[in-house]
Amino acid sequence: MRPWADLHVPVLAAEVISYLQPVSGGLYVDGTLGLGGHTEGILKAAAPDGRVIGFEWDEQAAGLAAERLATFGRRLTIIRTSYADLAAALPKAGIETVDGLLLDLGVSSLQLDRGERGFSFQADAPLDMRMDVRQPVTAAQLIRRLSKEQLADIFYNYGEERQARRIAAHIVKAREERAVETTRQLAEIVAAAVPRKFHPRKRHMATRVFQALRIAVNRELDNLVRVLADAPSVLRPGARMCVITFHSLEDRIVKQAFAANPAYAVVTRHPVEPLPDEVKANPRSRSAKLRVAVRTERDGNEGLSPAGSG
Ligand SMILES: C[S@@+](CC[C@H](N)C(=O)[O-])C[C@H]1O[C@@H](n2cnc3c(N)ncnc32)[C@H](O)[C@@H]1O
Repeated sequence: MRPWADLHVPVLAAEVISYLQPVSGGLYVDGTLGLGGHTEGILKAAAPDGRVIGFEWDEQAAGLAAERLATFGRRLTIIRTSYADLAAALPKAGIETVDGLLLDLGVSSLQLDRGERGFSFQADAPLDMRMDVRQPVTAAQLIRRLSKEQLADIFYNYGEERQARRIAAHIVKAREERAVETTRQLAEIVAAAVPRKFHPRKRHMATRVFQALRIAVNRELDNLVRVLADAPSVLRPGARMCVITFHSLEDRIVKQAFAANPAYAVVTRHPVEPLPDEVKANPRSRSAKLRVAVRTERDGNEGLSPAGSG
């Protein structure tokens, strides 16, 4: 058997089960199957016949999850598409409504640790960052094609990087001399763009730029906005939606969507965070926040202004 915990440890695993409340006979969607850690917990809690539909667009992760969860047989169905398309994909699979939905956003440890995927500057690799290699645009292409202003906007908006303009200007200058194609090249350009005294003490100067590029390549915030808008159409009234985020941009989107849409009733007034023991055992859990809502009986569009802006 593979050491699954070496590949990815599910965060807030017990909390997810207690909020999602899976029961036998239930049908649940795991929108971010990953290595299947959370889904394994749901399938066990929903024994003997509860089922999970797992969305995962990364081929490698989907294959490993299928191997890990093979013993559950037909209780698990894996759909290799974006969770953002769930409102179309579920009916295609013959499913009208489900009893719960989980999203555990961001990258898996597997993706970060496999240097060749280009998510991390710890290893030198082509600047790829696509979670699903069927997606058309890589990080290297964004670095090559976007204007200085567009790059600065990405670093500022998705990375909350205050040195965004300075870094973007440096990248544009560097790419005139030589194509920027590898993780290490980019990390060095970013580090050289900012005077040492402004470098953070506890992380590499390029951390936020890498996060921002990953979000842009995978259209992570667009996907989240879409799923929050569409999920009520597939959740039966009373079904629960659990979302784990890893940075403030995502958390804000979830918080606002839950509050603004009458199809959701908020369960967690404050987000649930990992206990110190979990953070100690799994440092990647430190920024996790879980928010939960229940599908109400109300229409998702009730109360919104005709322009959809209310
Ligand atoms: C944090 S991991 C999930 C780990 C999982 N909960 C576990 O316990 O193993 C996030 C996973 O979601 C996948 N993912 C991210 N965005 C996605 C999307 N829009 N559609 C489908 N899968 C997505 C990533 O490829 C990654 O494998």
